[in-house]
Amino acid sequence: MTPEISLTQDPSHRRHGSNIGQPLTRREGVLKVTGGARYAADNHPPGMLHAVLAVSSIARGRVTFLDVQAAKSHPGVVDVMTPANKPALAEDPDAKTNPFMFRLDVLQNDQVRYANQPIAVVIAETLEAATEGAALLSARYQAQPARVGLDAGESFVPPAVGVGKPAELRRGDVEAGLATASSRIEATYETPTQYHNPIEPHAIVAAWNGDALSIDTPSQGLAMAQGRIAGLFGISPEKIHIRSPYLGGGFGSKGLISGPQILGIMAARLVGRPVKLVLRREHMYGPVGHRAPTRQTLRIGTDGNGLLTAIDHRAKTVSSTFDDFFEPAADVSHTLYASPAIATSHEAVRIDTGTPLFMRAPGEATGSIAPESAIDEAAWACGMDPLAFRIENYAEVEPISGKPFSSKALRDCYARGAERFGWSRRPLAPRQLRDETGCLVGWGMGTATFPALMFQAEARAVVRSDGSGLMETGAHDMGQGAWTAFAQIAADALGLDLEQMEFKAGTSDLPDAGIAGGSSHTATAGMAIHNAGAAVIAKLADLATGDQRSPLFGAGNAGVVARGGRLFRRDDETRSDSYADILGRAGLTQIEARGNGAADPAAQSSYAMHAHGAVFAEVKVDPDLGQIRVTRLVGAFAAGRVINPRLVQSQIFGGMIWGMSFALHEEAIMDRRSGRPLNPNFSEYHVPVNADVPSLEALMIDEHDPHVNALGIKGVGEIGVTGSAGAVANAVWHATGIRVRRFPIKIEDLV
Ligand code: MOS
Repeated sequence: MTPEISLTQDPSHRRHGSNIGQPLTRREGVLKVTGGARYAADNHPPGMLHAVLAVSSIARGRVTFLDVQAAKSHPGVVDVMTPANKPALAEDPDAKTNPFMFRLDVLQNDQVRYANQPIAVVIAETLEAATEGAALLSARYQAQPARVGLDAGESFVPPAVGVGKPAELRRGDVEAGLATASSRIEATYETPTQYHNPIEPHAIVAAWNGDALSIDTPSQGLAMAQGRIAGLFGISPEKIHIRSPYLGGGFGSKGLISGPQILGIMAARLVGRPVKLVLRREHMYGPVGHRAPTRQTLRIGTDGNGLLTAIDHRAKTVSSTFDDFFEPAADVSHTLYASPAIATSHEAVRIDTGTPLFMRAPGEATGSIAPESAIDEAAWACGMDPLAFRIENYAEVEPISGKPFSSKALRDCYARGAERFGWSRRPLAPRQLRDETGCLVGWGMGTATFPALMFQAEARAVVRSDGSGLMETGAHDMGQGAWTAFAQIAADALGLDLEQMEFKAGTSDLPDAGIAGGSSHTATAGMAIHNAGAAVIAKLADLATGDQRSPLFGAGNAGVVARGGRLFRRDDETRSDSYADILGRAGLTQIEARGNGAADPAAQSSYAMHAHGAVFAEVKVDPDLGQIRVTRLVGAFAAGRVINPRLVQSQIFGGMIWGMSFALHEEAIMDRRSGRPLNPNFSEYHVPVNADVPSLEALMIDEHDPHVNALGIKGVGEIGVTGSAGAVANAVWHATGIRVRRFPIKIEDLV
């Protein structure tokens, strides 16, 4: 089946030049499909050894024996790194000086805190020898009973969840709102443990040269990785050179440097040779972060007109026994629907698990499938169409804060998506539609929302006397096409055609581009690029307008525009000067400037900033077998300015597929006896394959946001997951009349 593709973008929004808004293909696309792109694990420095992890098969206890002799006697094995001989670290890997630190298991002692925790590293001349050496270690343990799942372990309430929000928040009187409601629902939903499965597992090639360190490793946050490694090894960050030109996906798992990557560096130090360590797929199910399971209870009240009177959203999740990452699942209820009373709360239990971490819309993905299902249940309880119900309860301001939205084209998303999908033909009651083969057909929808975040980034812009330009920032391309979008922003910022401009990114030696996370990278690094370009153009304008020999003499900075390698007088475009001539007359070979990208605190305190969307799903369910097929997904999204519609479409499609995966496929089955994931591989950890993916449509709705940042970018990486999961779940209910509240929905739930 060929997915139908449809994208719209108003060309009038291309006010900053001719590159932003173009559907360019990825700059590195040909290299990737021809095998020319060199990923971290493709590097083989001379003298390199291979390292393989041995991991714990218990979830709690200690390692009592490792047959190091047997492993070392295997031909090709060079050394075995254990807590006994590991190189000393300058910093405790369990220390945490800021919330963006991830406590690491790097052989600090014999304790086992979760299944698949690294317990030794075997280093050998070949991958095969290292793998065999790891098997020969034959670990023995003193095991304690593992605490597994949402009902085990000690409970705690974190001081803050997500990006510094309080764990409990309320506005209005929820109990009073529920008491006066004419219709009420109370429902509890469960979302499963999910593990990271980027195509490229975590990998590192590490080489020491004295106290300098050269690293190839995929990273979503180069400067943070550099800082963490510097601290652990007691060297200055300038001594650490990290190359991360290509990533085979990140999705949050490569946002913070993980234990296995540090172990690769330690192994290289131990043996005094370069070392490569690539995680086996099943070793991803422990030390690199994952999505925590949740149990969410929603109570929703509505009055006789279908208006919400109260939303109470309580979320329970898990964290590890030794760290405190917290999936902020209830926070989406702050934003989604207008209600005079809203209360959200979070708690977690500490269980014997690797610490959960960011995974594609952390909080919003888990937190939207539950309320989107609950809103569907509430609409049905008062006999209303779920779209009409959502529009009736449309939030004109952010419900929890009362702040106006910086922009919100969600009404257009609802209208355009519904029209494209044919929603008006949907029967209200479930189990009304069948296809020609007798399958039950169901239509469901969900609202998508994700905050428009910005962190910190820096860029350096150069214009050279030959008229060419350079833009540098250590930005991260996880496969989403970031470099292409950034080059488009850079070309417009420098007033150059793309061909006249060089764009450098992907190493820690470049200016800090912040983190490719929270769907914030394009906005943050994009603004750094935009500002660096503007600063270098301002310098050129100063030179030209102050030089009597320039046609721009006396025009003043504000009176010039940059385009095609020239500055033009704004009031008289027949008068212009080329960058080359401006620099040549000044006797300069180049001119440079830096720029920062960061959120504007004043705008942030005045406005609620979110991207929005509406997703419509069709499913078909075999009434005898319970088999569920998603046959159509239509999404309409408003996320501010679209830098590159082709790449945005691909991000949104990826998100929509992930949402469908959330509703129907993905789940790590945790063994209650051992605390181990029972399906740590693609063979049994289900994700949608092409045959599962239906016709997809992503409509981008025009949205001009004057407040989020000067470019009007909101971010598109994660929002696609958020509406889609609920839409699919609601479509399954509409097909069958069965409301499944434990995800993923399975065949056995429907027969
Ligand atoms: Mo994403 S979970 O912010 O990489």
